[in-house]
Amino acid sequence: MLKPVDATTTPAWTTLTALHDSFTPDLRGAFDTDPERAQRYGFELGDLYVDLSKNFLTDEVRDALVELAEQVDVPGRRDAMFAGEHINVTEDRAVLHTALRRAEGDSLTVDGQDVVKDVHETLEKVYAFARRVRSGEWTGVTGKRIETVVNIGIGGSDLGPVMVYEALKPYVQEGLTARFISNIDPNDCAEKVKDLNPETTLFIIASKTFTTLETLTNARMARDWFLGALEAKGISTDGAIAKHFVAVSTALDKVEEFGIDPVNAFGFWSWVGGRYSVDSAVGTVLAVAVGPEAFEEFLSGFRTVDEHFATKTPAENVPMLMGLLNVWYRNFFKAATHAVLPYAQYLHRFPAYLQQLTMESNGKSVRWDGTPVTTETGEVFWGEPGTNGQHAFYQLIHQGTQLIPADFIGVVNPAHATKDGDTDVHELFLANFLAQTAALAFGKTADEVRAEGTAEEIVPARVFTGNKPTTSILAPEVSPKVVGELIALYEHITFTEGIVWGIDSFDQWGVELGKKLALQIAPAVMGDEAALEAQDASTQALIRRYRAERH
Ligand code: F6P
Repeated sequence: MLKPVDATTTPAWTTLTALHDSFTPDLRGAFDTDPERAQRYGFELGDLYVDLSKNFLTDEVRDALVELAEQVDVPGRRDAMFAGEHINVTEDRAVLHTALRRAEGDSLTVDGQDVVKDVHETLEKVYAFARRVRSGEWTGVTGKRIETVVNIGIGGSDLGPVMVYEALKPYVQEGLTARFISNIDPNDCAEKVKDLNPETTLFIIASKTFTTLETLTNARMARDWFLGALEAKGISTDGAIAKHFVAVSTALDKVEEFGIDPVNAFGFWSWVGGRYSVDSAVGTVLAVAVGPEAFEEFLSGFRTVDEHFATKTPAENVPMLMGLLNVWYRNFFKAATHAVLPYAQYLHRFPAYLQQLTMESNGKSVRWDGTPVTTETGEVFWGEPGTNGQHAFYQLIHQGTQLIPADFIGVVNPAHATKDGDTDVHELFLANFLAQTAALAFGKTADEVRAEGTAEEIVPARVFTGNKPTTSILAPEVSPKVVGELIALYEHITFTEGIVWGIDSFDQWGVELGKKLALQIAPAVMGDEAALEAQDASTQALIRRYRAERH
């Protein structure tokens, strides 16, 4: 097995340590002394303009980060990923989400199989299904066209589809809506189905493994609701499941066991990680909602960023530079969290989506060869759309005691251009995006506060130190292509960080223990005394309290 390079022993790490030790953040000074700074650190990435200039970046820092990438062989590991090598070592799998968006006619043989051909065959099947639903050719059991598509999945089989659905609302076909059931909290399913008409509802059960407790439980509850609701209307349930339940999975045998006709199942492959799967058949709900053409544009966005990531040198490679900057903040400035703040209401689920992508990928304490990591890994990613966040948590970013690097995502053209009197509301919105990044970078000095006539004793409370690093990403609009570009950007940022830390960013063993324990504790919750007594004292007390209060 190829051993990970210990980044902390590289010459570049030594250089970065020295640079950090002598580094005094001064973004005001950096811009004052270098009129070219914004141009030098501004990059094109497909449709995106990425401004890195408000970061703790100097040419020396950038060069050392680029050397680090080379010394831990990010380019080599990237090439290995694109080529289908088994870089997911702990699961002995290729990592080929990039093959999901390769152009038709390309070919990539992995483990004896042309994966690009497989991808396009599945896409065609998904598109044919989507077209039938969208045109009304696919009908429910009583001949009515489908109006609501309910995606049942969790984690990667939910977060990507729901995020993209929310982002692309203006592209959704009139007369169609999607809903998403994920939580095993029975209220989730109950609330999502309670006002639905079973005759016009189609369920997509999305689960890579088709063993996930939440998804299978929700799928059974949805099936029970559906059959009951039909019966309540006096409609025969014969043949109804085939018309109202389809599945997305790598385990087509399990889909059949559940009672779904394999003809109505869309497959994918073990080399697609759940959190990297929104552009596989897991996006079937999206292909139905926004249509195959928009889904193709979505894929083209990923492809644009993949081509950039695969071919650019580290010094001009935007996802790599952003990943390396994250390492700079995480390991040298000890920034434990990273905010992602979309100034686009349509992207309101993007931070939640990124939480799985980044934290399930890089929340690891051992490297891919089983040895302990040698430095901090995995930041906490979080965020909310602006301007809402400005009235909630920005105070802590501006004036708190911890460094929180933030990515701001702004959009040039709104789907709805609206005026408030003479004011273009979108421009007011964008002004907030720009104001925040400027305030974070440049702050407000005591003298500036005093010049406003502030009483001396209040001055310290009103000073902004500035020097809070941000990256600004400007997109022309929230289009299918842009959403694909944004996702691929963060996939490759996550990859870059994982390689520097020497970890397997594609396994997720840390979610297993809780799943097992839940099954072991369930009998105790349900009243099995022996199982209850086998639990720790705290868990026992909680269960006894629960059982006493449950009515
Ligand atoms: O939370 C663990 C996990 O395995 C995720 O990685 C995955 O996206 C999710 O569960 C759902 O898994 P599946 O698609 O197999 O139901």
